[in-house]
Amino acid sequence: MESAFKVLAQAQALEAKGKSVVHLEIGEPDFDTPRHISEAAFEALKKGQTHYVNAQGIIPLRKEIAKEMEKTRGVPVDPDCVIVTPGAKPIMFYAILALLQRGDEAIYPDPGFPIYESMIRFTGARPVPIPLREELDFSFDINELASKITPKTRMIILNSPHNPTGGVLTKDELRFIADLAKKNEITVFSDEVYDNMLYEGESFSITSYPGMMDRTILLNGFSKTYAMTGWRLGYAVVPKELVDPIVKLIVNSVSCTPAFIQHAGIAALTGPQDSVPVMVEEFRRRRDLIVSGLNSIPGISCLSPRGAFYVFPNIKKLGMSSAEAADYLLNEAGVATLSGAAFGIYGEGYLRLSYANSQENLRKALDRIREAVAKLPAKK
Ligand SMILES: Cc1ncc(COP(=O)(O)O)c(C=O)c1O
Repeated sequence: MESAFKVLAQAQALEAKGKSVVHLEIGEPDFDTPRHISEAAFEALKKGQTHYVNAQGIIPLRKEIAKEMEKTRGVPVDPDCVIVTPGAKPIMFYAILALLQRGDEAIYPDPGFPIYESMIRFTGARPVPIPLREELDFSFDINELASKITPKTRMIILNSPHNPTGGVLTKDELRFIADLAKKNEITVFSDEVYDNMLYEGESFSITSYPGMMDRTILLNGFSKTYAMTGWRLGYAVVPKELVDPIVKLIVNSVSCTPAFIQHAGIAALTGPQDSVPVMVEEFRRRRDLIVSGLNSIPGISCLSPRGAFYVFPNIKKLGMSSAEAADYLLNEAGVATLSGAAFGIYGEGYLRLSYANSQENLRKALDRIREAVAKLPAKK
């Protein structure tokens, strides 16, 4: 399960008792959804867009998504291969369920979004973690990835920019993985929900390499780019043969994504885009603030991430486990963070902090963490 929601509930319970908590646990932009997007939803509601619609997603939205993916990935995208769901997360559930079965193996990043491992296990397939290493700027060793491929490998999961480390895969790494996938006939699951949250270099998708759009489940959504987490609107571009099985799972679970919300999605893609760079620039300032603040606290060291809105500081010198450190900071300092171990065994020794919060709150959190860390017994 995603521990962010568990810690949010714990933090709210403390707040109910009167304790002040700075929330750095949950990964969502603190900006408002741009007004024209909300207006489009109101308009659609007024026009009666309140009924069941196409389970795969309404065609005008699928066409806009296909256009956007075509423009940004540089390869043709068929709107019939686009699937719209309530949030990006259900695609993980549906695609992994549709593709994997007992006896298969799936490689996934560790630390990584907890749903991947959990879903692989649920299907009876074997989860094969690929460690992300701090010394590699939170990338993985591509030769180590190659060594994990067996005849049973059906899927490789990628997430770039990455939650929880903020790491970004390079073009060369992606080319290597694309070649591996083609040679071994493996489907890639590429979670690109943070594709616009990039602070250095250019955004690049594995689907841009020849032949890769046809063997990739490209996951994306509106939650992060347009500050629409609560709307629940996401999508994927999937290989043709996966469309029917995934649509069947949609029909059997949620039927469809609400029509008026899909109209908001059209407005998001076709309307002004100026809110996106404004938000990204503010995230960049916050990143710099939190990275330098954390690095000035004895016992903590933190790389400067290139994407997403998380930092993943190393806390091994504090003399406690990640879970203990997260508990200590919540209860002692009133700062809600997540244990790195909640993202996999290779996350032990780290914390995840979301900097999708105001600079004022980040400063407050840093002061509180500094004070709480100073109270710990000195390590020999
Ligand atoms: C890596 C990653 N993928 C997918 C999602 C899910 O996004 P959504 O809110 O669209 O379901 C998240 C949300 O935190 C995420 O961090």
